[in-house]
Amino acid sequence: MDHRLCDLVHEQMRANRNQYAPMPGVPELRALLAKKMEAAYGYHYDSDSEITITAGGTQAIFTIITALVHPGDEVITFAPAYDCYAPAVELQGATMKWINLNYPDYRVDWTAVRNQITPRTRMVIINSPHNPTGMCMTAEDMHELQIIAEEYDLLVLSDEVYEHIVFDGGRHESVARYPQLAKRSLVVYSFGKTFHNTGWKMGYVCAPAELTTEVRKVHQYNVFSVNTPVQYALADYMSDAATYSGILEMYEAKRDIFNHALQGSRFGLKPAAGTYFQLLDYSAISNENDIDFAKRLTREYKITGIPCSVFFPDLQDDKVLRFCFAKENDELLRAAEILQSI
Ligand SMILES: Cc1ncc(COP(=O)(O)O)c(C=O)c1O
Repeated sequence: MDHRLCDLVHEQMRANRNQYAPMPGVPELRALLAKKMEAAYGYHYDSDSEITITAGGTQAIFTIITALVHPGDEVITFAPAYDCYAPAVELQGATMKWINLNYPDYRVDWTAVRNQITPRTRMVIINSPHNPTGMCMTAEDMHELQIIAEEYDLLVLSDEVYEHIVFDGGRHESVARYPQLAKRSLVVYSFGKTFHNTGWKMGYVCAPAELTTEVRKVHQYNVFSVNTPVQYALADYMSDAATYSGILEMYEAKRDIFNHALQGSRFGLKPAAGTYFQLLDYSAISNENDIDFAKRLTREYKITGIPCSVFFPDLQDDKVLRFCFAKENDELLRAAEILQSI
């Protein structure tokens, strides 16, 4: 990560910005995020009543679900999925309704979504760019989602923590690009993903005022207030848009270095469309299930990929592992060398 940001936090601490921040977050940071959202996606969020700073994306997701999903409700989402959605939903006494996405494209089948809707359906959770597959939603996907959400009066939780990492000239399809959709959506972001400091656990939620009011009722008694000096430092740092717009180029170069170095290996590969995860298909190498294969790579070759089946409730095994390329370039080349030998 950029050490300038560490210096800015240090400066804020020394300037005695060490007491509780306001519950929704420091106004300077929220004002800057409102500007950023409007510039990037054309939607105006009011910084006082529609943006809330959280202790990371995961806390934001938990808080949203706790505030808005109730016993007996149903929530639709797509597998494979980042692992924090289902526990939060189930803890509310609600039910997850899963729709599996299929290798290698992992595209959403919107007819399958319609077929899962019942009078109890409360929310759809989407994640684009998508962990673990790197799939990115298209404008067509967003139109379909908007039609369905309006028709059935659904809330949308849009996990957009990888918003800045969409490759090959594609654009990030935020729900905030679609005003009718944005009116019923809660959008989650993570500074950790953008600035490569996940250990700082900082994020935010953008949502219409009436939804934000509900989210803050839970936030108030759960987290109450998020790290003050880091918020001021982020506001200062992000006043230069190059700090976040520049990350795409870096990750695209890393994806290309890793993928190029894997050419000729026995792993099958479709370049990730977004995120910093690359899936590798090992079906030409082994029939083992993906968990066993991942364990064997770790033990025998000292390299670890995440078996994608663990992101499915039914452990769907497509014989693919997820590798993270948010690493130093020489580490990526060393990893590729090992993978070439398998
Ligand atoms: C899709 C997705 N959403 C949310 C998060 C959580 O973000 P944070 O680290 O800010 O809690 C992650 C982290 O891996 C993620 O991959």
